Amino acid sequence: MAVERTLSIIKPDAVAKNVIGKIYQRFEDAGLKIIAARMMHLSRAEAEGFYAVHRERPFFKDLVDFMISGPVMVQVLEGEGAILKNRDLMGATDPKKAAPGTIRADFADSIDANAVHGSDAAETAAVEIAYYFPALNVYSR
Ligand code: TYD
Repeated sequence: MAVERTLSIIKPDAVAKNVIGKIYQRFEDAGLKIIAARMMHLSRAEAEGFYAVHRERPFFKDLVDFMISGPVMVQVLEGEGAILKNRDLMGATDPKKAAPGTIRADFADSIDANAVHGSDAAETAAVEIAYYFPALNVYSR
């Protein structure tokens, strides 16, 4: 399987619960390397730009309000099959439907405050990584 990179965000609910370390441990235990990381408090424009594909969805405003409600931890994960591996670690979007032992089953409260974001495909991973880490090659050398 190819070595991939994916964009992960620990959302404001999980940062507020003080579980960044527990979530990082799951990435590392699954063989994913954290090759870049930034703690940020997103502006409204940054959150709207990141979730632009959802602009027409009914939950868009609530999603943006939530994403700017507190700091987030943004990281690039690298490893074999990193995109799908991270999605498996995260669990389903709705924590009520997330498999036991996944990050969302264990740390998320609701479909909107659902602890983590992870890129869902190679194309979105490339766009999302560039959005937060435009100079990633410099950091990873
Ligand atoms: P989506 O890309 O469908 O899910 P995922 O994060 O699992 O890739 O949706 C993006 C985010 O939008 C999701 O994490 C939480 C929010 N959201 C809602 O608040 N309500 C909803 O009904 C959906 C589908 C998503």
